[in-house]
Amino acid sequence: METKCEVKHGLEGVAVAISSISYVDGEKGELIYRGFSIEDLVEYSNFEETAYLIWFGNLPNENELDFINAMLTKKRELPKNIIRLMYLFPKNAHPMEVLRSVVSVLGMYSSDNNSTFEDAINLTAKIPTIIAYWYRIKNNFSLIHPNEDLKHSENFLYMMFGDIPQEKELFDKSLILHMEQGMNASTFASTVTASTLSDVYSIITTALGTLKGQLHGGANEKVLMMLEEIRTIDYVEKYVNDLILKRKKIMGFGHRIYKTFDPRAKILKKWLNEIKEEIRYYKIALKVEEVVLKNFKGKKIYPNVDFYSGILYNYFNIPKDFFTTIFAMARIVGWTAHAMEYCKNNRIFRPRSIYNGPKNLDYKKIKEVKING
Ligand code: CMC
Repeated sequence: METKCEVKHGLEGVAVAISSISYVDGEKGELIYRGFSIEDLVEYSNFEETAYLIWFGNLPNENELDFINAMLTKKRELPKNIIRLMYLFPKNAHPMEVLRSVVSVLGMYSSDNNSTFEDAINLTAKIPTIIAYWYRIKNNFSLIHPNEDLKHSENFLYMMFGDIPQEKELFDKSLILHMEQGMNASTFASTVTASTLSDVYSIITTALGTLKGQLHGGANEKVLMMLEEIRTIDYVEKYVNDLILKRKKIMGFGHRIYKTFDPRAKILKKWLNEIKEEIRYYKIALKVEEVVLKNFKGKKIYPNVDFYSGILYNYFNIPKDFFTTIFAMARIVGWTAHAMEYCKNNRIFRPRSIYNGPKNLDYKKIKEVKING
């Protein structure tokens, strides 16, 4: 066995880049984007402004914000052939499969002369349209085309449902929570693709495939499935204890970096508390949190962002199989920011594995191998 280098399972504790995009303090439970706390950004900012901040490193002035708004607004519509293609997809296709596939196909429609930033804006603008069109196609509803008078997130809700809920700002702010989170699995995977000098469509296809997994962005859908299965508060204790006994992971808990409450989960919980009416699954979720914390005392396993985000999306009538696409609609900003940052000082990612298989075997042609017996 080779012993010259050490394997860090899951790359735990390994830094692969220097970045000024975001900072996570896992012990204190802090998250900052370009120097601004996530708490301040959700309080004072919005999707477009925070996207500008993450891409360019500073808050925009009015002209710069107008520029981003205009770019995002005019690139929303999908090519007609892609819409036709979406009608051919099986209706039971998972929304993340559809999103990943359409993003990949969009690469064929992009000009080689586009800058990385133009492609990043193009995909950021189009991802909500892909999600909303698929929701409507899947349900045999007629399409609602983008409305240029509406902001990014409200236009998304409009394309999904045909009207805009009163709490549209809360939905916009929830996107800010998901925009960026350092070198997480999907950002790492997409940065690897970027490091080969591939195109933005390939970079984001990689990211989407990675985000889809249930240990990453796919957890929010699984959390809602769990809450649906539990159904009543009285069943929580038994359900959670059974999972722990069987050493199964409880979805929406634990994090590689946060060893205390995920600040995003804290913010989501505060918002859910502030909503006056009864929110579906929220009370069950609070009980799950109580039982998990009691069981894992001292193990530093706390709710992460995916534990509470689905309850909020459900409140906005977004079906659970679409939850991870909402995560993607926000995280595209972080993915593309990291790809652009990394490529300024690019070096292809090429780690190694340690071989522990056989060596020096004698090759025998298939006819020479005697069949025993
Ligand atoms: N339920 C039960 N036990 C857990 C959980 C959990 N959710 N998370 C961690 N543990 C235990 C784990 O079994 C291990 O125990 P032991 O030391 O006895 O073997 C210990 O805690 C360390 O866990 P790990 O799996 O080695 O930690 P990791 O850093 O490799 O994994 C994680 C992090 C997020 C994949 C993991 O906590 C997990 O699978 N959570 C559930 C899925 C989830 O909620 N994912 C969303 C993550 S946050 C947002 C995002 O990235 O999308």
